[in-house]
Amino acid sequence: MAIDDLRNEIDGVNASGKRDRTVAVTGNQEIAPGFFRMRLALPSANRVFSPGQFFQLAVGTGTTAPFLRRPFAPAELSPESFAFVYAVVGEGTRLMSRLRPGDRVGLLAPLGKGYARPVSGSRVVLAGGGGGGPSLGPLAAALRENGTEVISILGARTAGRLVGGDSLEPGSHRLVSCTDDGSAGFAGTAADALAAEIAGGRVDAVFACGPAPMLKAVARITAAKNIPCQVSMEERMACGFGACVGCVVEMLLPDGKGTKYGRVCHDGPVFDAGTIVW
Ligand SMILES: Cc1cc2nc3c(=O)[nH]c(=O)nc-3n(C[C@H](O)[C@H](O)[C@H](O)COP(=O)(O)OP(=O)(O)OC[C@H]3O[C@@H](n4cnc5c(N)ncnc54)[C@H](O)[C@@H]3O)c2cc1C
Ligand code: FES
Repeated sequence: MAIDDLRNEIDGVNASGKRDRTVAVTGNQEIAPGFFRMRLALPSANRVFSPGQFFQLAVGTGTTAPFLRRPFAPAELSPESFAFVYAVVGEGTRLMSRLRPGDRVGLLAPLGKGYARPVSGSRVVLAGGGGGGPSLGPLAAALRENGTEVISILGARTAGRLVGGDSLEPGSHRLVSCTDDGSAGFAGTAADALAAEIAGGRVDAVFACGPAPMLKAVARITAAKNIPCQVSMEERMACGFGACVGCVVEMLLPDGKGTKYGRVCHDGPVFDAGTIVW
């Protein structure tokens, strides 16, 4: 048995029943200024995660700050490992950017509920923006394998921030890149590119991941055309498994007459766009 398999065997299951592992970093490269792709060794990674699920990474040592784990979503899954793309935005991601192959990190996974997949034979659009875009890669691959036609949109503010297209490409029949300032690809936001796709042909479903303003625009565009839409929400998290109620989002009750709070880590992160109070 390989040493990593052995370590995974002896790692524990935490109080939430989630698998708490220590895994090895096998790669951590800067792919554009401020953006990194990290690869972690995880046997059967492609069976551990369902597209849209996420993991929490222990960034401090447990006795040093930051104490809270940070949530990320895989962009590439394989039988031996998985990779994710992350933007350096604060203390935790700055520490992550200093990790080297051979370093070991705590991993709590899989967490949350992923995307519900449509029946085969449909034509769908995946819309990603910012650091979250590449995490649509595993969904694109699963849909394409199921016979679905996949058009992916990857948006960023400017060309230098357009990262992770290579995670989306293998699962996409067509990849549309776009930038807010028009410095690469389609000139406009990911939501603008989605509106153009919908105007240009049949779209049976939309799946989106990115910053809240983008998701709000995607929800408005799809609602106006009655197209089913699922969105992966980003909220700051603490526990990551539903215990602390620190990551809530306001949702409509099924009868539409009131609202409730849903936990992004436990009830999501993927939600039907029509259930969110934007
Ligand atoms: C389910 C899920 C999946 C995610 N997947 C990815 C991914 O694949 N790639 C990626 O780059 N990022 C992803 N994120 C966001 C990522 O978790 C945060 O950027 C990260 O935790 C920031 O840690 P930090 O210590 O560097 O920043 P901090 O020092 O904690 O904060 C720095 C800044 O980032 C903002 N921020 C922190 N956490 C979040 C958050 N969860 N959502 C929105 N803004 C936040 C803060 O408000 C602050 O302005 C995901 C978030 C969630 C909830
Ligand atoms: S982070 Fe604790 S309930 Fe979601």
